[in-house]
Amino acid sequence: DLTLRKLVPAFVRLLGGDAVDGGLTALVAVGRRPLDSDAYRELVRTSLVRHGEPEDAAGFERLRDRFHYHRLDFSAAASEAGPEGTTGPDGYAGLETALRGHGRGLGPTVGRLYYLAAAPEAFEPIVAGLHAAGMLDETGGYRRVVVEKPFGSDLASARALQKSLVDRVPEERLYRIDHYLGKEMVRSLLGLRFGNRIFEPLWNGAHIDHVQISSCETDGVGTRGGYYEKSGALKDMVQSHLLQMLALVAMEPPASFSPDDIRDAKVAALRSATAEPLEDGGCAVLGQYAAGEVEGASVPGYREEALVEADSDTETFAALKVRIATPRWEGVPFYLRAGKRMDRKGTWILVQFRDPVAKPLYAELATVGADRLAVLVQPEEGFFFEVNTMAAGQGFEIERVRMDYCRSCRIGYGTPLAYERLLADAAAGNPSLFVRWDELETAWSFVESVFVSCRNGACGPAPYAAGSAGPAAARRLVEADGRTWWAPEG
Ligand code: BG6
Repeated sequence: DLTLRKLVPAFVRLLGGDAVDGGLTALVAVGRRPLDSDAYRELVRTSLVRHGEPEDAAGFERLRDRFHYHRLDFSAAASEAGPEGTTGPDGYAGLETALRGHGRGLGPTVGRLYYLAAAPEAFEPIVAGLHAAGMLDETGGYRRVVVEKPFGSDLASARALQKSLVDRVPEERLYRIDHYLGKEMVRSLLGLRFGNRIFEPLWNGAHIDHVQISSCETDGVGTRGGYYEKSGALKDMVQSHLLQMLALVAMEPPASFSPDDIRDAKVAALRSATAEPLEDGGCAVLGQYAAGEVEGASVPGYREEALVEADSDTETFAALKVRIATPRWEGVPFYLRAGKRMDRKGTWILVQFRDPVAKPLYAELATVGADRLAVLVQPEEGFFFEVNTMAAGQGFEIERVRMDYCRSCRIGYGTPLAYERLLADAAAGNPSLFVRWDELETAWSFVESVFVSCRNGACGPAPYAAGSAGPAAARRLVEADGRTWWAPEG
């Protein structure tokens, strides 16, 4: 699903456009199904026609022969029987031969990205298989391993996975995906913060009242109930995407924009982050969607979804109040929320400034709102400032206006897909937008501390109707502080 929906369109655009391609030339899909390359190409074509942009399907037609298929059951242990040459050491030897064949004529060395778009339990066996077959050896060109999420299911399993991977491939060659880091406006946070005089000096508790990071989805878990039952919103969204965005907003200026300096700054921010205990002693408001209506259609509750237990207590919504223990963020709460089957779809970051300095001095300003910077991550990409100005006319009426930059409106189809950016960066050996092990370990520790606080049912997920704004306790979380959740109109 990931390959067809995200990686293939990204690959088609990278190869077909003028964009940087990082030298990518061919994609070899590896799977256990008995297909040949022609049958696989047909699968890709059908998927692009059905789900993709028309430009992607047309682009694929021009690139068909760059797509190949190779059969290998990478989930099967070496000793397990499988069709000859499709499992164990023979399977990997066959893959090596096929890859060499596809690389023939491309030059003296041919780099490879092994992209693990596979079930998480396959990560370790695949890397072990590649290693045993000598396929991680770099004499023939670079050999990097791109690892999808989830990387572990808790702190202990993430550590165990890390250990088993770095025994075979060094950390510098492990590219852990968090596709939010490839999203245009998440990347742009660095430029916005540090590329302008007007932000960085104000980027602290003296001027900022609070920050909100929201990621709302209208979809339910769909066919991923099996995975989601073992995950839930805290692990699926907060541990990864939300904490990454938080780190980019909260971090101190990095020593340079080198991948390691940026990631050092993010790790430091994450180490300073703690979730604040709420009314019931737990550090999160958790919710689970019940049946309801989304975009005019009735939808089932989470417990009625395929592969979900009828009495499941997996959360599909989480909201937290996070404190960053640094002088910069003294007194500034960061409110985070992520949920499925909500009343709207979108991801955005709100930086809410404090009231105007002059507000107490002038009666005319008594009711004016404070400035805000909203970074719209999706579906619209861009940012805007909301500020006060004098309304046209004779009196002293203040009006609120927006200075708006809609990036997606300007660039449209040409806006690079998150995966396009990430694939190009991995091919170019630039790990800036990938998650380093210590970042991930810190993020897992953070989420684990939330789980510990929630033990004994302190945060047991409260039901919320599908198509609503989440459980009432999430509203109380911000209202108790005299604030409200913000969302862009429309
Ligand atoms: C994935 C989660 O990492 O991100 C999914 O596993 C979630 O549950 C998805 O739906 C959201 O990504 P996007 O790009 O659609 O916001």
